[in-house]
Amino acid sequence: MPPQRGMQFFAISGDADANRPQPQKWTGQLARWACIAMRVKIIGSAAGGGFPQWNCNYRLSRAARTCMPGVQSRTQSSVAASADGTGWVLFNASPDIRQQIAQTPELQPAADAPLRSTPIRAVVLTNADVDHVAGLLSLRERQPFAIYATAQVLATLKANSIFNVLDPAIVPRRLLAPTQEMAICGADGHATGVVVSSFPVPGKVALYLEQRGDPDADFSSGTGDTIGVRISGADGRGAVFYVPGCARIDAALRERLAGAACLLFDGTVYTDDEMITAGVGQKTGARMGHIAMSGEAGSIAGLADVKIGRRIFIHVNNTNPVLDESSAAHAAVKAADWEVAADGMEMEF
Ligand code: MLT
Ligand code: MN
Repeated sequence: MPPQRGMQFFAISGDADANRPQPQKWTGQLARWACIAMRVKIIGSAAGGGFPQWNCNYRLSRAARTCMPGVQSRTQSSVAASADGTGWVLFNASPDIRQQIAQTPELQPAADAPLRSTPIRAVVLTNADVDHVAGLLSLRERQPFAIYATAQVLATLKANSIFNVLDPAIVPRRLLAPTQEMAICGADGHATGVVVSSFPVPGKVALYLEQRGDPDADFSSGTGDTIGVRISGADGRGAVFYVPGCARIDAALRERLAGAACLLFDGTVYTDDEMITAGVGQKTGARMGHIAMSGEAGSIAGLADVKIGRRIFIHVNNTNPVLDESSAAHAAVKAADWEVAADGMEMEF
């Protein structure tokens, strides 16, 4: 039987009493880590713009700004995972990364670490959206870590010379080949214990890469412009799927997610025309490459009969009514056995 949370762990120590080894209770962190394959922390749960968004006067951003009960502020989409409690792998680097590190002690230099150091060993990118790559610029200062991304996203970083503030000789950029399982390593080549399988999902290129004037952006799957990732420990335990952007749920995705311990999924909009009815924009969720939560073609319905341990919406846009815990939309999501991610949420597998 694999170790369960709450079990007590004993290490066999030396022979204190003649021939019989005495059990010695493991305590503190050691016992904790003996039974955990993976620790995952949601460090940012909002979509691009964050919540509240700096220039947004919609009722939800106003409610967050005035700290209305049941309406919690959120930073932009990013997740941290650790297999050993010491080294951490970030999934996406949001423009709020400085704040996210400040509110996450695990991501700060340890007290006894060198003068310049970080527990962040690597950053895995799921697309080239501003909310997922801009935080890389805040990780300059000649600090070694590794970047993993698809060929398309690596090409975008290469084409934008501002990312050269991360000297590739210090911050290596590595190819995350679609569908391949990869052991994520730090800049020094040492394995973090975090293993990632990436897979393309229906999506599109980042907004700033869309052809100006082209009304038909490419939303096809399989291009590698947008990917999902399966995150696990080295032994395959603790599988968490992180899919912050997804335009559609197709058979391949349903099959892939079946049996997941936990899914962190695109929760940008509750209804497809939400930004239009809110009066803040002209685009539907579909046009932005984000499937709605509700409706017959929505993610709740599309994944209803897929066996998934825990379902959590992440990358929640500031127009999404589920951000208000007293809303009917929030109640409907809860009734469908989904959770809405908040910053600081933590899971152990
Ligand atoms: C998205 O998720 O659609 C993008 O982050 C939008 C944006 O770049 O503002
Ligand atoms: Mn986004």
